[in-house]
Amino acid sequence: MACPQCKGLESLFDRRTAEADLRRYRQRGPARSTRILLDALKRDGIRGATLLDIGGGIGAIPLDLLPAGAASATDVDAASGYLAVAQEEAERRGLSERVTYRHGDFVTLAADVPPADIVTLDRVVCCYPDMRALVGASAAHARRLYGLVYPRDTWLTRLGGRVFNAGLALTRSSFRFFTHPTSDVDAVIQSSGLRPTYHRDAGLLWQVVVYSRTAT
Ligand SMILES: C[S@@+](CC[C@H](N)C(=O)[O-])C[C@H]1O[C@@H](n2cnc3c(N)ncnc32)[C@H](O)[C@@H]1O
Repeated sequence: MACPQCKGLESLFDRRTAEADLRRYRQRGPARSTRILLDALKRDGIRGATLLDIGGGIGAIPLDLLPAGAASATDVDAASGYLAVAQEEAERRGLSERVTYRHGDFVTLAADVPPADIVTLDRVVCCYPDMRALVGASAAHARRLYGLVYPRDTWLTRLGGRVFNAGLALTRSSFRFFTHPTSDVDAVIQSSGLRPTYHRDAGLLWQVVVYSRTAT
């Protein structure tokens, strides 16, 4: 991938960062916002479901949902270091045969990735400049449930994002953090026929949302 943000993703989310994430995951389990998302999805029913996890990092979502009854998963990640560590950990847990791994920008790969019952993007929308393309293409892939963890739309997250981006610019990283407006994200998801069924703030930074295609 040639775009500056994709190069930034590869270097920021490299193998060393992924291994540190995995150590943290083994010690403490999923991050709080991820746990909230997992609980909400499990309440809606995941037995026998197919999962498409975009930007899955070390694979916290499939590592939880496959043993809990999901049938299979596809993990699409733009960072090769994360993808390799996710695959190794799934192998170690005897789950890798139920996961398909794809390296690349989901927006570019979307036409070639099959839809799934459940689509998740956990702390991914904040990594991508073209929210409409990423959220639009991923929401269209969700047959039943669509779960997101993304930044709350507050002055604090916008300010934090600006400070974080200034730090990244100083280190010459081409990665940038994006606080996309909640109303814009919601409009793109709803325009694909999904309806909101769950919302919870997780601390100052994140919000967790679930949408359903069958909700009235
Ligand atoms: C902040 S990490 C989050 C990892 C994991 N979901 C978590 O919450 O711990 C963002 C991940 O999204 C991936 N990512 C961002 N934009 C992407 C895109 N357009 N297509 C595929 N992966 C993407 C990055 O490579 C990275 O692995």
